[in-house]
Amino acid sequence: MPLQNRNIILAITGGIAAYKSISLLRLLTAAGATVQVILSPAAKDFVPVTTLGALSGRPVLWDFTAEDGTWHNHVDLGLWADVLLIAPCTAHTLGKLANGICDNLLTAVYLSARCPVFIAPAMDLDMYRHPSLRQNMQRCTDFGNTVIPAARGPLASGLEGEGRLPEPETLFELLKKHFSDAENQALCGKRVLITAGPTYEAIDPVRFIGNHSSGKMGFALAEMAAARGASVTLISGPTALQPKHPNIQIHRVTSAVEMLGKVEEFYAEADIAIASAAVADYAPKVKADEKIKKNDDTFTLELVKTPDILKKMGEQKKHQFLVGFALETTDGEVFAREKLQKKNLDMIVLNTLQDEGAGFKGDTNKVTIITKTNQHAFGLKNKTEVAADILDFIQQQMAPDTEKMTSGDKKLEQ
Ligand code: PMT
Repeated sequence: MPLQNRNIILAITGGIAAYKSISLLRLLTAAGATVQVILSPAAKDFVPVTTLGALSGRPVLWDFTAEDGTWHNHVDLGLWADVLLIAPCTAHTLGKLANGICDNLLTAVYLSARCPVFIAPAMDLDMYRHPSLRQNMQRCTDFGNTVIPAARGPLASGLEGEGRLPEPETLFELLKKHFSDAENQALCGKRVLITAGPTYEAIDPVRFIGNHSSGKMGFALAEMAAARGASVTLISGPTALQPKHPNIQIHRVTSAVEMLGKVEEFYAEADIAIASAAVADYAPKVKADEKIKKNDDTFTLELVKTPDILKKMGEQKKHQFLVGFALETTDGEVFAREKLQKKNLDMIVLNTLQDEGAGFKGDTNKVTIITKTNQHAFGLKNKTEVAADILDFIQQQMAPDTEKMTSGDKKLEQ
């Protein structure tokens, strides 16, 4: 029971979707969680305090002092919580979270919390896609919070699109998964090798051939594998990201050849290898020693193939469980299956740029996992959740056959 005796702060802000928080509260308490409800001042206009108090079995808080003068200590609340979930989170509150503005109990608890924070923005579609809102979501993610993508569908305004608060059951499952992941030490004793980020292939001292990979997908996999007890070697192309977990040993490289060199150093020892890097397929045949001047109207660059690192891993595979990625723009499944076979992989993770929110740079991805016998398409999720799904799948595939029959098949039926 992953939610049993967990301390959860359910923070509700003043949006129409606040009515869903009542059902969410019911689900959480029924699963054994202790839930403290905190409201923003505006939320009181959207949800009945008496209902929330009765369902949580605790006084609902929205101010630093109660009517009888009791002080609600935001620091104690922040330290008490195992998780803080802000759902729904209005554009107004999101702006405060992104900028450290602390003008009510909810925002003070947020700043005091040491626990994981989940933020579920919900609003009308034009607000949700406004650049300032997007920037605030990104800032909150950069601070280490999990921002839950809004759902798509009919909105209170009568418009239709992105901006809905995900259903209470979805939010409930997300928190349940968070706690079961935290308990999950299934990769304890395993050595996991992960490639991440882009490679840069130098043209001259100032220019290179590269791509849009940020490294987020690979780093999310590394963090999740380490959280599950694995000892992780992360070989990353150029990225600004820093690994957080102490069990991640990072090796930074620039080019495909350098990445191959590091992979060759660690591959033999690995139990699981995951190639999420976007390796440049071609590199300039010659790197100019000096900056190339723009003398002519046209300029021809001769390119040569880079080493296919994943293919080499497939050729040298012994005990390793080998996972590749496929980034496609058309006929994803066909090309992914081809790579699965040609590179001698156990599993391939397909993401396609045809899916909004999938692939490069962003915090979300939408993947289909393909093995020789199974295939499962997942919805749009943040990259941490995608990493958890990928590792769940690997663990099921690696499990002894008897276990695979039950847990693996169950997963595919979902
Ligand atoms: O880093 P992010 O911004 O979070 O973006 C994540 C991602 C989009 C980069 C990631 O999800 C992803 O799809 N990574 C693989 C990208 C890619 O290069 O795909 P591909 O279909 O071209 O390559 C197939 C596989 O071969 C990949 O596992 C790749 O790592 C590997 N490969 C490719 C070429 C090469 N020379 N060596 C390789 O090892």
